[in-house]
Amino acid sequence: METPPLADRTVLVTGGAGFVGSHLVDALAPHNEVRVLDNLTTGSRSHVHDDARLIEGNVRDPIALQRACDGVDVVFHEAAVVSVTRSVDRPRETNRTNLEASLLLLEQARQEDARVVLASSAAVYGDPTDVPVSETARTEPTSPYGVQKLALDQYARVYASLYGLETVALRYFNVYGPRQQGPYSGVISAFLEQAQAGEPITVEGDGEQTRDFVHVEDVVRANLAAATTDRTGEAYNVGTGSQTSVLELAETVKSAVDTDAPIVHRPPRQGDIRHSRADVSKARSRLEFEARIDLEAGIQDLAERTAAPERPRKATDRGERTTS
Ligand code: UD1
Repeated sequence: METPPLADRTVLVTGGAGFVGSHLVDALAPHNEVRVLDNLTTGSRSHVHDDARLIEGNVRDPIALQRACDGVDVVFHEAAVVSVTRSVDRPRETNRTNLEASLLLLEQARQEDARVVLASSAAVYGDPTDVPVSETARTEPTSPYGVQKLALDQYARVYASLYGLETVALRYFNVYGPRQQGPYSGVISAFLEQAQAGEPITVEGDGEQTRDFVHVEDVVRANLAAATTDRTGEAYNVGTGSQTSVLELAETVKSAVDTDAPIVHRPPRQGDIRHSRADVSKARSRLEFEARIDLEAGIQDLAERTAAPERPRKATDRGERTTS
């Protein structure tokens, strides 16, 4: 079933100039009045859809948040410090953005009786003992970032049960796609950059570690489903249900870029998770959400966009769905 689009609502996307947020805004802006609250530290003004109103401000600022939430029907909370490393270096500072600001937002949403869809993370599970990992698996984060996302995720549930607020927490697995940039952008964009520069592809550890890579357009569809579901007060995994090793990924990137760049091994990352794969049955049955974009097709598309930025942009670059 096609996800019913959200239409004729007043919508706020925090972090709407960032990676996931800006794609979400692209999908929402043609049918809704969309506001974006973003302080543009990692987000980019140029990624904000022309029809959305950008409020430049910090989610930690109660005044900015109040202004952004005024009269809103639905809030998508994507703003966060996404760097796990930064959370390790600065647990309190990242807690202020990732958790305290989220609480402020939930309070504000209560005032407006708005639905809130929050970006949680597979980081809540830490290093899972078994995969696929279901929503009922043990939550034992291995970083302050994971603790902050777990607390946000639990607050969402508690606000639903205690105050009747309509909340949905989406536990994103490894998201990739266009506009993912910067030093914390993830292995796919790192490999693509290396391959396109003709540099060696750097695999950390033996490369047998696996991840569940989900395309950002699928993540957008999960958010739209969460905005309209009547199954609120719940957390859902957002992944594909498949796992790919880092070595397989390196090969896929090499063939997408058509390079014979060598694969080199570096020491493994400290505290790296071995295997991660979402159990997608809850999202499938209750949200009617299923990821559609095949990893190879997603990487091929990304390789083409990043290799030839001077070419006219494809229809898929601004909001329209990519189909696999
Ligand atoms: C991802 C999320 C993180 C989340 C975590 C939850 C991203 C970008 N990050 O981290 O927010 O907390 O899942 O489990 O999605 N690698 C290489 N070479 C490189 C870069 C990475 O081999 O040049 C390896 C890493 O060692 C790791 C794997 O690729 O084993 C994935 O790394 P990365 O994309 O940074 O994501 P996660 O660490 O899984």
